[in-house]
Amino acid sequence: MRGIGIKKYGDVQQLAMINIPTEPVGPDDLLISIKASGVNPVDWKVREGCLKADFPYELPLILGWDAAGKVEFVGSNVTEFKKGDNVFFRPEMEKQGTYADEMVVPAKLVSLMPRGLTYEEAASLPLVGLTVWQALVEVGNIQQGDKVFILAGSGGIGSIAIQVAKSFGAYVAATTSSKNGDFVQELGADEVLHYDQGGIITQTKFDFMLDTLGGRAYGDALKFMRQNGTVATIISERDAVRPVNIDRLEKDRQLHVEFVFTRPDGKNMRHICELVESQKIKPVVSEVYPLTIEGAKKAHLSSQTGRTRGKIVLKREE
Ligand SMILES: NC(=O)c1ccc[n+]([C@@H]2O[C@H](COP(=O)([O-])OP(=O)(O)OC[C@H]3O[C@@H](n4cnc5c(N)ncnc54)[C@H](OP(=O)(O)O)[C@@H]3O)[C@@H](O)[C@H]2O)c1
Repeated sequence: MRGIGIKKYGDVQQLAMINIPTEPVGPDDLLISIKASGVNPVDWKVREGCLKADFPYELPLILGWDAAGKVEFVGSNVTEFKKGDNVFFRPEMEKQGTYADEMVVPAKLVSLMPRGLTYEEAASLPLVGLTVWQALVEVGNIQQGDKVFILAGSGGIGSIAIQVAKSFGAYVAATTSSKNGDFVQELGADEVLHYDQGGIITQTKFDFMLDTLGGRAYGDALKFMRQNGTVATIISERDAVRPVNIDRLEKDRQLHVEFVFTRPDGKNMRHICELVESQKIKPVVSEVYPLTIEGAKKAHLSSQTGRTRGKIVLKREE
């Protein structure tokens, strides 16, 4: 496989063309020709070496763990896919990534692509879709009428979380800066809470919170949770400093708090596919760059600002 990655941890100057042998296709695998790859903050965190302790990669490493493409070869035990199928998936983080021309992926992690989407749109969904499904449905067990609080409604995760929560009939509030207020409302938020106008204020008491920010933003939001509510956080201590008063705030409200680290899962991917095909959610792609070293540099620098809307995608040039 040939793709964009790193030979050494560091800044965007480390992004380079990597050539490594493609894994052999096992009986339960698919060989997929990648057409587009989603870009996520984890990509540049890995590039910088921030995840070395959790993922002791052997370099060189192709980056990216989010993709859409076409099935080129089907392992002998696989019955649910055929050559030529359009698919989308998040591969295992421990392995080589998706900023590549092709890769071998266990079929159980893959789903057919939602009908009617481009490769770029489909590639924007796996990682955020799985994270949101696992946080809202598996941890939050959200139900119609639940009051759901999304921290950072305009980001890659937030823009899908608002839509998924609405598809379950929840009442949704989301935080955002003023410049993204209309955008967040158009995604379906019932309540838009501007964090840049003197702090967030709401009368609502929430049953469930998805925390995508951690730190002070999370601490400030906790006072709006009801007693015995649930929090799914996707932020670890290496992402944001945990304010000292958080433990007490969580304890006073007797909150159930769970950390979610996205799990690759073809079954969950099919739920995402169904939500798109039934027009309950739509991808939100704001920036597309070519899958080249220059394109990856631009994508990483943009993601690193922490100010992008929806998703960034790298498109493979034919
Ligand atoms: N644990 C996991 O498995 C997992 C999975 C996915 C992502 N993550 C992590 O979750 C975080 C979010 O991911 P993402 O893909 O959504 O990131 P992202 O797309 O880069 O988020 C950017 C968005 O955050 C908003 N934002 C920044 N500060 C804010 C604040 N104080 N209040 C409200 N909104 C704010 C920005 O909007 P404004 O410009 O309007 O401020 C921007 O739209 C990242 O740290 C990522 O690494 C973890």
